[in-house]
Amino acid sequence: MQTVLILGATSSIARAVAGEFASHGYDLILAGRDCEEMQTQAADLEIRYDVKARVYPFDALDLESHETILARCLSDTGERLAGAVLCVGYLGDQNAAQTDFREARRILDTNFTGCVSALNVISNHFEKQGSGFICALSSVAGDRGRQSNYFYGAAKAALSAYLQGLRNRLHRAGVRVVTVKPGFVDTRMTFGRPNLFLVASPQSVARGVYKAATDGKGVVYLPWYWRWIMLVVRLIPERVFKRMRL
Ligand SMILES: NC(=O)c1ccc[n+]([C@@H]2O[C@H](COP(=O)([O-])OP(=O)(O)OC[C@H]3O[C@@H](n4cnc5c(N)ncnc54)[C@H](OP(=O)(O)O)[C@@H]3O)[C@@H](O)[C@H]2O)c1
Repeated sequence: MQTVLILGATSSIARAVAGEFASHGYDLILAGRDCEEMQTQAADLEIRYDVKARVYPFDALDLESHETILARCLSDTGERLAGAVLCVGYLGDQNAAQTDFREARRILDTNFTGCVSALNVISNHFEKQGSGFICALSSVAGDRGRQSNYFYGAAKAALSAYLQGLRNRLHRAGVRVVTVKPGFVDTRMTFGRPNLFLVASPQSVARGVYKAATDGKGVVYLPWYWRWIMLVVRLIPERVFKRMRL
């Protein structure tokens, strides 16, 4: 049996990712803020897939706690941890963030600082272990800043750059780092938002995450066609792009 740690385990995508790994026989460590909800998830996974699922509290914004909590998660595994999937994310309120820096900071800290703090601990563990994968959910929003979500997009762009450097650092240690960039996914995060198109299901994204975690790719767009959509978006000249309502 191998174990996978999922951070932000109550996310809609994380639930599907947990199911995907469990269906392939992996035990799970679920880490997130809502322990009661994760206990229900864990019980469901254990019954459905005949795997072990444990629950740990994890708040991305409580930076001081990361070292201790993650050390407990990692040592309680009992066996080598196969990998970690980071699903923490906060879209936030772009309009509020423009006038209230507390909201801007929450977006930046949840999507970047808190994730980096946790990934630092996990990556050092995998480096010492000499194996493992880190699969982190960034976003296509980080590929180009748009007026509708540039605080979130900036944090995801920073996360993608961090993961790129981490991948470069850990390659020789035999640790794989995968940057996952989903387009629009039908989750709590996007519920009721206008102007969504080509919306994917969490289950299809989870299948992509599992495949990316177990093959050798570094950056994965999910679904695949977002790679080409974002290529086109990145090619739009800035003098045109700044006039667009995006
Ligand atoms: N949905 C999309 O269209 C889309 C597109 C591109 C990328 N993504 C990324 O995919 C990942 C999963 O998103 P989702 O769509 O499944 O969103 P979601 O259902 O809203 O899940 C967000 C997750 O982040 C957790 N979280 C937020 N703040 C946290 C904190 N301070 N500490 C710990 N956990 C925290 C939430 O925990 P609680 O349950 O406790 O709130 C929840 O588990 C995110 O990184 C997101 O940015 C999503």
